[in-house]
Amino acid sequence: MRRLAVENLNGNGRIMTETKEYSATQKVQRIMYSIYRTLHKIALRIVTGILDLIVILWLSFYYMAEAFILMFIPLSLRTLKSLRGRTILVTGGAGGVGQELVTRLVKYKAKVIVWDVNEKAMAKLKEKVEQDGYKIHTYAVDLSDREMIYKYADIVKDEVGTVDILINNAGIVCGQPFLDIPDYMIEKTYKVNTLSCYWTAKAFLPTMIKHGSGHIVTIGSLTGLLGAHSCTDYSGSKYATIGFHESLWTELKTKKYSAINLTMVAPYFINTGMFEGCKPTYSPMLEPKVVAKRTILAIRREEFFCSVPASSLYILGLKNYLPTKLNWLLQYRVLRLPQAMKTMRKFQEPQAA
Ligand SMILES: NC(=O)c1ccc[n+]([C@@H]2O[C@H](COP(=O)([O-])OP(=O)(O)OC[C@H]3O[C@@H](n4cnc5c(N)ncnc54)[C@H](O)[C@@H]3O)[C@@H](O)[C@H]2O)c1
Ligand SMILES: *[C@@H]1O[C@H](CO)[C@@H](O)[C@H](O)[C@H]1NC(C)=O
Repeated sequence: MRRLAVENLNGNGRIMTETKEYSATQKVQRIMYSIYRTLHKIALRIVTGILDLIVILWLSFYYMAEAFILMFIPLSLRTLKSLRGRTILVTGGAGGVGQELVTRLVKYKAKVIVWDVNEKAMAKLKEKVEQDGYKIHTYAVDLSDREMIYKYADIVKDEVGTVDILINNAGIVCGQPFLDIPDYMIEKTYKVNTLSCYWTAKAFLPTMIKHGSGHIVTIGSLTGLLGAHSCTDYSGSKYATIGFHESLWTELKTKKYSAINLTMVAPYFINTGMFEGCKPTYSPMLEPKVVAKRTILAIRREEFFCSVPASSLYILGLKNYLPTKLNWLLQYRVLRLPQAMKTMRKFQEPQAA
């Protein structure tokens, strides 16, 4: 049986048997050679490893120093992305933060497009913007409807032009304990908050890549970094936007499409009515205009991740290092988030708006 293993068929189909015999010196030579090859490989790995380490240490130092120095350079001295003449699409642009974004963006001489399901609020916003002497393009689009998103993406391309900056801002929340949320609402929250980001990016990213520039902005939430009470639908959907944002970024980076910018904005509670009735005790709700201003700055600075307020990112980061019991203590006794959520408005069957 052992012989069979080294038997070969030669061209004539006859069985040939390989019989190789090594002399003692040849055997030693072979062993010496394989030791040499192994050592050579190890040495090469050590040298390239050390070189890699030096480069990575140097770049780490350089990037840290760059970020540190930038903190002290006033905005007036920095080159910020210009918004003049850019075509900017704001989803949910008729609502709290969206409206504040729109009314500010037009002042930068940007061409602003609004997609919202609330036609009344959108018409009112258009009127207000026009009274101020500006112009916006409004479209009644339901972001929970994929086909509608694709259809209106084509319409926008024809009627207004290429979208340079896409701001995925629309969002909804049910705000009830898990078992009280109707199934269809859980689906709807994911459709509006998460899936619409996929469909809009699919619709507008190819042209951005073709033109070699573009910017996709996602309005996430701090609940996308820490699950909150009565937010099983919302928190989950916002966590997903962060995963989407980060993954897409790595793809654009590896494909060397670094001319496409991605920005995630993750705010604390905002006083827009979305979380009406909530009484956060840790700090008061943010005003929508503060979040809009910070978002525009993040876009102009081409920031990758921006939490509002900035400190929240570090506070929430603690959860990764602290024991779970302590995490709960801090959430319940210090942040008092579960208590704050208990007073949230009762869920009502959503109307068209
Ligand atoms: N309000 C907060 O406390 C808070 C906190 C963190 C993050 N955010 C996020 O900020 C963003 C803006 O929220 P907001 O507070 O301005 O809310 P908002 O309710 O005031 O505005 C949301 C807008 O989205 C629109 N919209 C809802 N469903 C839609 C659909 N199916 N199709 C099209 N448009 C739809 C609404 O009509 C509204 O104009 C959201 O993504 C939200 O999740 C809000
Ligand atoms: C943003 O895009 C521009 C080109 O459009 C590019 O030069 C720049 O490096 C990008 N910024 C980031 C932070 O990726």
